[in-house]
Amino acid sequence: MKLFDNRPIGIFDSGLGGLTVAAALRRKLPGEAVVYLGDTARVPYGDKSVDSIIHFAHQDVEFMLSCGVKIVVAACNTVSAVALNSLKHDYPDKTILGVIDSGVRAVIDSGAESIAVIGTRATINSDAYRRGIHAANCAIKVESIACPLLVPLAEEGITAPGILTAVFDIYLSKLRKNPPDALLLGCTHYPLFAEALNSYFAGKVKIIDSAGACAKYTAEFLETNKIAAQPDNSPGFGCFVTDMPSEFQCHARRFLGGQLPDRVEKISFA
Ligand code: DGL
Repeated sequence: MKLFDNRPIGIFDSGLGGLTVAAALRRKLPGEAVVYLGDTARVPYGDKSVDSIIHFAHQDVEFMLSCGVKIVVAACNTVSAVALNSLKHDYPDKTILGVIDSGVRAVIDSGAESIAVIGTRATINSDAYRRGIHAANCAIKVESIACPLLVPLAEEGITAPGILTAVFDIYLSKLRKNPPDALLLGCTHYPLFAEALNSYFAGKVKIIDSAGACAKYTAEFLETNKIAAQPDNSPGFGCFVTDMPSEFQCHARRFLGGQLPDRVEKISFA
């Protein structure tokens, strides 16, 4: 007998960026309801201390669980890199998936022998992607580079090639001269630059998107654990933010590629 679970999937991020994961997940699993939390009052997490990121992540998870979700997906690479172990420790009977494991799997599946990982400062300082990749295959050459300016550029919707190339040059010019086999986009915002990065490297570097990898991994997890939604489930999509709901709604389109939320509500953490 096939078993189902129609409760929503909870996805949270520091702000808008996790909508790239929500979009990938909704494309992959169109029958699943989604509740999204963006902590827009405290974004960005990527340049906060480890203690602050862990504290924020716990509050985010508490809120997600209060929404009655069946699993929680930490779409934020920074949270996944820095706080996932603490979350798993404190919520041992809940399923909390991060984006690092799925990103690592995508790297291994790509067959790349050399990889560059880009992300926020906190993600890169945590070394989580390199450790994950080397735990699976220590022969892969890994270079990790923090690219902090890419988050505000994505939030501002800046796509002018001249500006993007100048910013890519700050962080990636060394890689351009000596390109790795693949580039892992280890940040929620970077999928918005996938095409620009592909052109920057003249199509010579395989671009691996951690949002798409996370959607694939989540789909497999639901199927294996027999908690996917029924095919005729109503796939509602509600969003909560901790500040500026109307700005969130305006910018969401760019991150979601057209699949807009049913509603955006403001919540506050005590
Ligand atoms: N969501 C963050 C990440 O994926 C990027 C934005 C931030 O720094 O909060 O790492």
